[in-house]
Amino acid sequence: MVGRLATVVRRLSLGLGLAASVVAGGVVAIGAANAASEAAQPAKAESKAPIVIGHYGSLTGAEATFGQSTSEGIRLAIKELNASGGIDGRMVELKEYDTKGDPKEANLAVTRLVKSDKVVAVLGEVASGLSLAAAPVCQKAGVPMISPSSTNVRVTKVGDMIFRVCFIDPFQGLACAKFASENLKATKAAMLYDQKAPYSVDLAKEFKKAFEKMGGKVVAEQTYSGGDGDFTAQLTNIAASKPEVLFVPGYYTDVGNIALQVRKLGITCPMLGGDGWDSEQLGKTAGKAIEGSFYSNHYAPDQPDEQVKQFISKYQSAYGGKTPDGLAALGYDAANILFDAMKRAKSTDGKPLRDAIAATKDFKAVTGTITIDQNRDAKKSAVIVEMKGDPLGPKFKARVEP
Ligand code: PHE
Repeated sequence: MVGRLATVVRRLSLGLGLAASVVAGGVVAIGAANAASEAAQPAKAESKAPIVIGHYGSLTGAEATFGQSTSEGIRLAIKELNASGGIDGRMVELKEYDTKGDPKEANLAVTRLVKSDKVVAVLGEVASGLSLAAAPVCQKAGVPMISPSSTNVRVTKVGDMIFRVCFIDPFQGLACAKFASENLKATKAAMLYDQKAPYSVDLAKEFKKAFEKMGGKVVAEQTYSGGDGDFTAQLTNIAASKPEVLFVPGYYTDVGNIALQVRKLGITCPMLGGDGWDSEQLGKTAGKAIEGSFYSNHYAPDQPDEQVKQFISKYQSAYGGKTPDGLAALGYDAANILFDAMKRAKSTDGKPLRDAIAATKDFKAVTGTITIDQNRDAKKSAVIVEMKGDPLGPKFKARVEP
């Protein structure tokens, strides 16, 4: 019987394509930690019902590594919390739905989490466009939502229930412009961005504003739509403008294809992007074409930082030696900030939990020290990484303070 159950759990994990499934992350941990106390005090079992939280993310689709990495970070945080006794003795259980990178699916997923599963808080999404599509559901239901990684300014403006634990794009655009101007000594930049993604459109705008303030000039501005395959027309125009840096604030799938075509057309200047590049898939798709290019991110795995080292070693032992990307680190941080607030709130009701998240101050997270400001955003530094090495991946280059 036990053997058969284990098989079912294992098959579920494989089916989800993740190192641990919902069942493995939630129920197994509960079983392990509760078995002893339940046996000793069966009467208390009722009041120690698990606390159910939700996660919605792109577990499949063009940005699949975003949701998968975030999920792994969240599950690691839950596992550690439950092993240390949970929230006042209550275990935390995760409900998770796939958005497939689609705004409508994101809205449905969060509606399901809030209405059917009655989760007390929601973690997600990564892509700003998807957070924007689902945040109104949480706001209306009075359920706190924490986005680990959506950087578009508008996300937390949806309402007072919506938080994030990452920096915002006006800062990220500034960090990229500063790097282009001061480190790359560029005075002429070209931009190629995804006109369908709020993240990409606004980050391009912020980069341009900051770069021109520093005395630089944007000499070409071209757009694409996520999923496009051929960028020849845009890149021909860009090549003619002779840029010293090409800013591409898109998501990794598109950026990988763009990089290949950039080099094929003979454009040799470095490419620069935002956190949307962050996926182990980028180096695999683009190979040499992306070597020597840069992007801003929330953390770098080779950062000389004790907390980062500890996180990487725990993550690697949980997930077969894999190096965590920024999304995994942010998922882990978002979950831990939620747990910290739950402990302080001494309640899982929307209002007190919301107030406790809002009061988060100097929380030592993997991606930096997090204080939630009056806009429900996090003020933190950014890192610039360079794509290099073998295997090709992001290497720490510079830190930009807010
Ligand atoms: N910041 C991106 C957005 O808002 C998402 C992202 C964050 C992607 C971190 C990769 C790493 O859409």
